[in-house]
Formats: sequence, C-alpha cells, structure tokens
Amino acid sequence: MDHFDYKDGILHAEDVAVDEIARAVGTPFYAYSAATFRRHFQLFQEALAGMDHLICYAMKANGNLAILKLMGDMGAGIDVVSGGEYLKARAAGVPGERIVFSGVGKTRAEMALALEGGIRQFNVESEPELLALNEVACGLGKVAPVTVRINPDVDARTHAKIATGKSENKFGIPIAKARLVYAEAAALPGIEVVGIDVHIGSQLTDLDPFRAAFDKVAHLTGLLRQDGHDIRRLDLGGGLGIPYERSNMAPPLPLDYGEVIRQTVGHLGCEIEIEPGRLIVGNAGIMVASVIYLKHGEGRNFLILDAAMNDLIRPAMYDAHHDIVPVRQVAPGTEMSAVDIVGPVCETGDTFARQRNMPPLGDGDLVAFRSAGAYGAVMASEYNMRPLIPEVLVDGDQFAVIRPRPSFDEMINRDRVPEWL
Ligand code: LLP
Repeated sequence: MDHFDYKDGILHAEDVAVDEIARAVGTPFYAYSAATFRRHFQLFQEALAGMDHLICYAMKANGNLAILKLMGDMGAGIDVVSGGEYLKARAAGVPGERIVFSGVGKTRAEMALALEGGIRQFNVESEPELLALNEVACGLGKVAPVTVRINPDVDARTHAKIATGKSENKFGIPIAKARLVYAEAAALPGIEVVGIDVHIGSQLTDLDPFRAAFDKVAHLTGLLRQDGHDIRRLDLGGGLGIPYERSNMAPPLPLDYGEVIRQTVGHLGCEIEIEPGRLIVGNAGIMVASVIYLKHGEGRNFLILDAAMNDLIRPAMYDAHHDIVPVRQVAPGTEMSAVDIVGPVCETGDTFARQRNMPPLGDGDLVAFRSAGAYGAVMASEYNMRPLIPEVLVDGDQFAVIRPRPSFDEMINRDRVPEWL
C-alpha cells in the first residue's frame, strides 16, 4: 500500500497535489511519502514482533539524509556498504551500534573508519577480508564484531543481475566451508564472532528461496554452536519484492515473510536482523516528468519526456517495469493508445516502456512513474550534463525539497582545467 492517490482528479502524494510540487520545483523530480515509509517499517516491526530483532534499512535503496533520519528516529538500524554510506548514516544521527557493514570488497580504510566510529558488526564475505579486518582491528587496539556471510547456493528466482545466493555469484563463502572459516575467525585476536549472515538476492516474489536459505542457516547455527562458537545473531539480509505492476502480481507480505523467519530460525534464541531496502522505500516514491513532445513515428508513436535513463535507470538496466500514470486522472471512456515512452538521451536504451497504453498526452502534461522510491535517485547520474533531479519529501499536507537540483554553474565548476592546458 502507498499514499499516492487521485483526489479531485489530480494525483496526490498524501495531501499534496503532485502538480503543485511540479510548479514549485520544476520537472523531473522524485517525490516520497513519509507515511508510506513509516507504514512499511511498521509492517516489518509487526512481522518480527515477539522475536528479539533489529530492522537494518538497506540505505543503498535510497540514501537521502532526510529519509535516513526518518528511519533512524523510528529506531531502525542501517545496513551500509561503503565508508561513504557509513558516514552518511552517522550524519543522520544513527548510532554506530545500530549500523551493520555489508559488502564484498570493504577496504582497510573503510574498516578503520567504522571501527573507530563504532559499528554493530561487519558482515564478512571472504577469508582475505577476515584477515584484513583482523589486522586493522589489532592495529587500532580493537576487536571487530563479525558475522560471516554464507552463500547457501539457493536460487532466488529473480533477475540474474540482482540474484546473489548461488554458488557462482561473487557473494559470501560457500556454506560447505563455513565451519573452517569460523574456526579461523575464532583464532584471530582482532575478531569476535557474533553470528551468521545471508542475503540471497533482491526483488524476490516467492518465499520458498528464503525458507530454503534460512533452513540452511538454522542447520549451520547448530553445527557452529557444537564447534563452540557463540552464535547469537542471525542477519537474514533483505530482498522481499514489491508489486511493480499493480494489475499483475502480488508478492508475499512482510507478515508471511516474518512467519517464515519464525518457523525456520525462531527457535534458536538468536537476535534476528533483516536488511530490507526496496520494500520500505520502493512504493513510497514516484518520479514525475513532463511530456516534451508526442512524436508520430512510422507505425508507432513516441511520448518523449524530460526524464531519461540517467534519472531512473532501472528499465534500461534490468528491463524493469514501472507503472506510468498521468498526473491528471483519465476521464472514464477516454480512448487509450499504445506509445513508446522515452527520454531525450541519444541511446535506444533510453526507453522506459514500449507500446504502453496511455491516454492522449501532449506538451507539458505530467506523468508519474510509480514504485520509483528504491534504486531510483541513488542510481541516477548526470549523463548528458543532465542535472541530478530534486527529491521532495511529503508528510501530510507539507512538503520540502530534501535535495535541490544543482545549477549548471555548480555542475560545470565541479570540473577543473589544469593550469598547463
Ligand atoms: N542487503 C544486502 C547485502 C544487499 O546486497 C541488498 C541489496 C539488500 C540488503 C537490500 O535488498 P532489497 O531489500 O532492497 O531487495 N539496483 C537493483 C537492486 C540491487 C540490490 C542490491 N542489494 C534494482 O534496482 O533492482
């Protein structure tokens, strides 16, 4: 569920009309609903109720400082994957003891940053990383709390570019090697084993792969405890999918996902951590664009927008579907026609949708891309010298720009021309 609905014929974000935001900030822009963020976080809280747990929001999905503060204020932990993300989570007021550090290639500098600033745990993904972390921790006179990310060799049945739990993927250590690696970890003076970590992929629309992975984690917990390790935390990663096509598919609810967790690992007496990103922010955001032209091609028409692949890369990169709706509600009985919806960038890949049924639209009309709150703004670039588009947060009847559009002067002056040129 989200808080983007038509009222009086105009799409609203909560109580704010989307065309009003467009007049204030210009298009394109992202708009987020604070109520939807809160609701989705609460759904996970309810799903894990009764189990000792921490929801570590995966900020890679949307790392705006205001959103991190909103999440942090509700008591969320944060899952970070870089030194930059760590610093930003701290800047938003999230304490180190609520931050988990994931990622397959943490540098020594990033490890030191987090150890010095305070960190809940590192999710370690390889033996060389374990050794490096031990060295860095010893050098600082600290002990690093660690889970080892295991690769359970489970097929997440999602897009190949975002599946991470098969043995051929670069992530984690093979589960068959886990006991050896834990023994190695336990012998290192700068490492304290606190638990196990797993993450099998993103946009999962089926609970079975989660169940298969968590069953393996439960089994491994028993073995590692037999080996004398104090396994007290299980980080089960993120990955629960969202309905991108309203008309089509209904992925499992957080409550059912919580039930799978309860059934598979609930009896182990471990603190449960999860790292959801997409489900919390995905349907809490829209991207709004204006139509520049309707171009009549041979046999097909093109709706050319002022937003492009650099602003929302998911369709170009993952063939992802986003519902695209007119901001002005379509009157009943309006004739729809199929158009290709494209941006102005000089690549055929700059196509948001092919042969999508849309009402008649022309110059200046506004459209909204739904489900654009996750992996939208964070993956944007300034390709074609197109400014990063602003982000707006709506809360009830108020809205604020939480990241302004840079001016062309700012963008140009970021470059330096050497004196000798
Ligand atoms: N934890 C780890 C270790 C991850 O790698 C990820 C996502 C998450 C948690 C959060 O997963 P989520 O709950 O958001 O599914 N750019 C792609 C998605 C990449 C996901 C990467 N890892 C997209 O636009 O679909």
